[in-house]
Amino acid sequence: MTILVTGATGNMGVPLVRELCRLGREPRVTTRNARRANSLLPEGVEIVEGDLREPEFLDRALRGVDKLFLFLEAGDPSRVLRAAGRSGVPYVVLVTSLLAETRPRSFVGRLALETERVMREGGFRGTVLRPWEYASNTFAWARDIREDDVVRQPSGGLPSPVIAPEDVAAVAARALVENHDGRTYALTGPAEVTAGDKVRALGAALGRELSFQETADPDLMEKIRTSPEEVAESFGVCFMESPGVRSTVRDITGRPPRSFTEWAEDHAESFK
Ligand SMILES: NC(=O)c1ccc[n+]([C@@H]2O[C@H](COP(=O)([O-])OP(=O)(O)OC[C@H]3O[C@@H](n4cnc5c(N)ncnc54)[C@H](OP(=O)(O)O)[C@@H]3O)[C@@H](O)[C@H]2O)c1
Repeated sequence: MTILVTGATGNMGVPLVRELCRLGREPRVTTRNARRANSLLPEGVEIVEGDLREPEFLDRALRGVDKLFLFLEAGDPSRVLRAAGRSGVPYVVLVTSLLAETRPRSFVGRLALETERVMREGGFRGTVLRPWEYASNTFAWARDIREDDVVRQPSGGLPSPVIAPEDVAAVAARALVENHDGRTYALTGPAEVTAGDKVRALGAALGRELSFQETADPDLMEKIRTSPEEVAESFGVCFMESPGVRSTVRDITGRPPRSFTEWAEDHAESFK
């Protein structure tokens, strides 16, 4: 059984590959930088180096694959799916976005629905995962936090059930080794948190008192109110109404998803 993981060096990819190895399935992975992949991933993983936008590389990577793990920014995901169809790959676990459900007309929502449609019409068996905002998006604050005690953003955003990418990975691993054919799973973390809550949790994990400051740009606030989809392209889904907390991670893995506080404790080093 050959499992191919794309995006294997990413926030979600690394814990997914580790979990698959723990379950005794050593996957093949794609990366544009094999040296970096080698330093991040367990031994025994077959690394194929190249760019998913290149057709010859795609064909080589997909040869003999039984299950493909694919994410939205993998070059052009629909093209990857078509190549997978030509290579005879029968089973796909596709990660899109919960915006497909909550904001189907946003850029990401449309891309998600289009890619899911290509997967369906390609006749693949498999599973669609639709996660909400990743806790790892806060890595974008790391420089501010290293240099200062204040994180500044145009707005505090709305409370958002942020999810640890490790929990998306845990569900993805189940979807790859068990039979979840035909299912679409909406994935969130265990609680809704604001930007201020996240900053406080990061401060606690670092043993420092950090604060959050809204820069309150009136033009941007108006845009957030009138066209949140557009703003989300630049600042993320925390400006969109919460999809509500979903129980899927616990339902599939049997354990509760990590809170943002737990995620911050696990990743404090990256903010030092
Ligand atoms: N962030 C969120 O809030 C959020 C929310 C919902 C869904 N998602 C989904 O989760 C996915 C993964 O998120 P993540 O945080 O794990 O991403 P990430 O950490 O940014 O990882 C991106 C990965 O993409 C690979 N990559 C990028 N362009 C590529 C190309 N042309 N060819 C081959 N590989 C390429 C990179 O691998 P190399 O550099 O090794 O090639 C890297 O491992 C997103 O794409 C999105 O579909 C994210």
